[in-house]
Amino acid sequence: MFVFLNNQLLEAEKATLHISDLAIQRGYGIFDFFRVRDNALLYVEDHLDRFIHSAQFMHLACPYSKDQLHSILQELQQKNNLPNSSMRMILTGGYSADAYQPADPNLIIMQSPLAFQDTLVPKSLSIITHEYVRDIPEAKTINYTMGIWLQSKLAEQKADDVLYHINGTVSEFPRCNFFIVTKNNVIMTPAKNVLKGVTRKKVLACASSHYKVVEGPVTIDDILNAKEAFLTSSTKRIQAVTKVNDKAIGNGEPGAITTELLKSLVTVEQNYVSKKL
Ligand SMILES: Cc1ncc(COP(=O)(O)O)c(C=O)c1O
Repeated sequence: MFVFLNNQLLEAEKATLHISDLAIQRGYGIFDFFRVRDNALLYVEDHLDRFIHSAQFMHLACPYSKDQLHSILQELQQKNNLPNSSMRMILTGGYSADAYQPADPNLIIMQSPLAFQDTLVPKSLSIITHEYVRDIPEAKTINYTMGIWLQSKLAEQKADDVLYHINGTVSEFPRCNFFIVTKNNVIMTPAKNVLKGVTRKKVLACASSHYKVVEGPVTIDDILNAKEAFLTSSTKRIQAVTKVNDKAIGNGEPGAITTELLKSLVTVEQNYVSKKL
């Protein structure tokens, strides 16, 4: 397996960073993650835009332009020849002289095999809520401390995931965006304190051609009154949220609109891939 580190393609075992990197010293850095399907870099334009935005927002100077990054990704894809896989691009805080001041960032691009099925039936999830907002929600930082810390609580409560909220107004999951479908078939998703997911963007585009879509505040009470709820991410696509804090949402089953949106999303993905072939 090859990885890209700073300015070269290396065998993964030979790709090393110095321990003074701010990512190690303080957990400072940004990243992006996306799937490769049938050799196509899925929604790479959106992911590169977000990667560059996260870097700028965190005052990290990315050494490459969007086009240059795209070429590097294509080169890595050809070298590793993994038609179905994931790409993880990380930009760290760099080798800091005093373990605090950011320095020249280190760029790492890693690829791993990832098989994916076009399942059209949404998985059903039971979730809990937790009062928290990420430090800098508009950037995809490498700081997942709270999400990882909550893993043991999820195991104890036999829940699949945790939805962050502040004072009852929800935002996002540690790694996914959240949507509800109201009793009037309005599709709502939080807009504040969230990372703007690429899957969220694709789902909003699919949904808006058939339904009223609102990007705005969603409360825990709104969830309990909703007909359906679901989450979105690159690796989960769309999964139904059928229980929150042990209370059923709607009829407690994945809903018709959630299922319809999953089908639309899979079609959008298939069309994207066939255009790239
Ligand atoms: C905080 C957060 N929200 C949402 C998402 C989903 O984003 P995407 O749909 O681009 O995978 C992620 C992805 O990891 C995330 O870290």
